Amino acid sequence: MTDTVIRIEGLDFRWPGAARSCLDIPSFQVERGEHLFLHGESGSGKTTLLNLLAGVLTPQSGQLELLGQNLKAMASARRDHYRVDHVGFIFQQFNLIPYLSALDNVLLPCRFSSRRRLRAEEQAGSQRDAAQSLLSHLDLNEGLWSRSATQLSVGQQQRVAAARALIGRPEIIIADEPTSALDAERQTAFLDLLRRECAAANATLLFVSHDKRLASGFSRQAAMAEINRIHGEGAA
Ligand SMILES: Nc1ncnc2c1ncn2[C@@H]1O[C@H](COP(=O)(O)OP(=O)(O)O)[C@@H](O)[C@H]1O
Ligand SMILES: [Mg+2]
Repeated sequence: MTDTVIRIEGLDFRWPGAARSCLDIPSFQVERGEHLFLHGESGSGKTTLLNLLAGVLTPQSGQLELLGQNLKAMASARRDHYRVDHVGFIFQQFNLIPYLSALDNVLLPCRFSSRRRLRAEEQAGSQRDAAQSLLSHLDLNEGLWSRSATQLSVGQQQRVAAARALIGRPEIIIADEPTSALDAERQTAFLDLLRRECAAANATLLFVSHDKRLASGFSRQAAMAEINRIHGEGAA
């Protein structure tokens, strides 16, 4: 088993119709257990990079490996399955399902991944207990568990999104600046919780943000400007 959980080599990605590449990343790795803060200004290609790691976008050239598996070699259905088995995503807008309760949103990955479901059951006895335990650890009161996602504050939605990423202990947690809508104090508190839960689950964390102030407490920092040879519009 490899200790490199994310490996990128010679990656080139250009949006359809764009005059030039958006990403040209010669080499980039994330090692098992790292909590990596990847900084980049708006427009520097952070979300594009995460979509490539999710297998939602495909690069024109280069290697992209998650846990030693080459994403490009997989058919797209297998790639989707591989992603939900091994990666928990926290999106910028959280992407909660509005008509589902907080608890059912957290349980979603267990519906799509038998691996995540089995791991949740192993860990907590049942998937429901796993979801409830995560929500409690993330300071979301029991009274809120049955509320629909639309009836939660932004900070509460953020914690539901984190619990959904963590359930069933995927090896990799990827977060796309999920804190931008919160004030600094709440951002820091959320990051402390997130890092603590990732450490408890032995998960590798890749957190991207335009806000350098959030970087303290991470085991490693990197900048898009260092890893990507193309410098985005944001740099102008
Ligand atoms: N769906 C899309 N189609 C075409 N270009 C896009 C699309 N999404 C993003 N881009 C372009 O890719 C570049 C990087 O955007 P993005 O990855 O969203 O940056 P960041 O997340 O760092 O703010 C920008 O120039 C943006 O205009
Ligand atoms: Mg973005």
